[in-house]
Amino acid sequence: MPSISVKGQNMPESPIRKLVPFAEKARSENKHIYHLNIGQPDIKSPVAAMEAVANHGIDVLAYSRSEGSDAYRVKIAKYYQKNQIPVTSDEIIVTTGGSEALLFAMGSIADAGDEVIIPEPFYANYNGFATASGVNIVPVISNIEDNFALPPISEFEKLITQKTKAILICNPGNPTGYLYSKDEIQKLASIVLKHDLFLVADEVYREFVYDGTEHYSILQEEGLAQNGIIIDSVSKRYSMCGARIGCLVSKNKEVIQTAMKFAQARLSPPTFAQIASEAALQTPQSYFDEVIEEYTERRNILIRELESIPGVQVGHPKGAFYCIAQLPIKNSDRFAQWLLEDFDLDGETVMVAPAAGFYSSEGVGLNQIRIAYVLNKESLIRAVQILKAALQQYTD
Ligand SMILES: Cc1ncc(COP(=O)(O)O)c(C=O)c1O
Repeated sequence: MPSISVKGQNMPESPIRKLVPFAEKARSENKHIYHLNIGQPDIKSPVAAMEAVANHGIDVLAYSRSEGSDAYRVKIAKYYQKNQIPVTSDEIIVTTGGSEALLFAMGSIADAGDEVIIPEPFYANYNGFATASGVNIVPVISNIEDNFALPPISEFEKLITQKTKAILICNPGNPTGYLYSKDEIQKLASIVLKHDLFLVADEVYREFVYDGTEHYSILQEEGLAQNGIIIDSVSKRYSMCGARIGCLVSKNKEVIQTAMKFAQARLSPPTFAQIASEAALQTPQSYFDEVIEEYTERRNILIRELESIPGVQVGHPKGAFYCIAQLPIKNSDRFAQWLLEDFDLDGETVMVAPAAGFYSSEGVGLNQIRIAYVLNKESLIRAVQILKAALQQYTD
């Protein structure tokens, strides 16, 4: 039989999706599952986006330009300017989700065997994008005890080698919910400038910041104009995950020219979804105010309920809609499977994401899970009740 590539064999399985068969079986047995495992918001997509697609008036569903439609890029640039991020439309390449922007970024700045330093735990698919690009991830560990704040810069410095090309951060963070402060971004700026590295910031959760805090983008930092690359997406911002639209933003012309070659190879981002995303940019601030109020309440309820369970420690998120919970168990992979296969509370159970998949260091985070608070408040309370009952029964 022809053999599969080593790269293909090394592609990591999604830590979330591997539990899907167990969830399907549980559902076929009529168990109701509360999904705490995925970041699919239950918030409605903006009406303007849906209407723009419904009333498109298009005769031929053609390719758009590889960098994305001009009209859309001009409006995204305005969105950034409104957010004090000084970029122009020619510094933006529209991509098929933030996912493709991450692939283009890695492809544009790193060769096979090069290294990218990432604070862990990190968004699990970074592993997949790195493997696909032949890039080695070098993790620098952050801790639940200090809510996953930026590790000391000296820890990054220790890991920089001839092969290091970039530091990649997610701000606010999936899976930690940590929001880097201006001071932390400035510390990162000084180290990337000192060592001539790129700073890639995945800012797909930019709007989701709580407690009156403000997001500070890497491109608000003037000194990072040549070193900074933003990864962005409409998926979470407008609850439009299925649109598959994101973008890569950089003021570095060589980065944009190089990413454009990747963009040309895949021809264009999806046309209908750009129409929807362009219309979504009209979304009024009141939409975000409501969404943020809702997520803040959900977060507060979730943390309060989780902390009422003996032996559970929770990182306090300041942004995004995830948190990491440390449980009084040994192995959350087994626990997550057991929840689906062997446990129910009055016919109901929960699905969680084992956190080990968000670390690339072996054996770290084994007793942690990631929880997404994308369910309504009643469901969150019930889900934590189920988790509590499960922990009382579970032995490992
Ligand atoms: C941190 C982070 N980056 C990027 C993505 C990719 O999103 P998309 O490809 O839907 O834009 C996600 C999706 O969950 C994410 O959580």
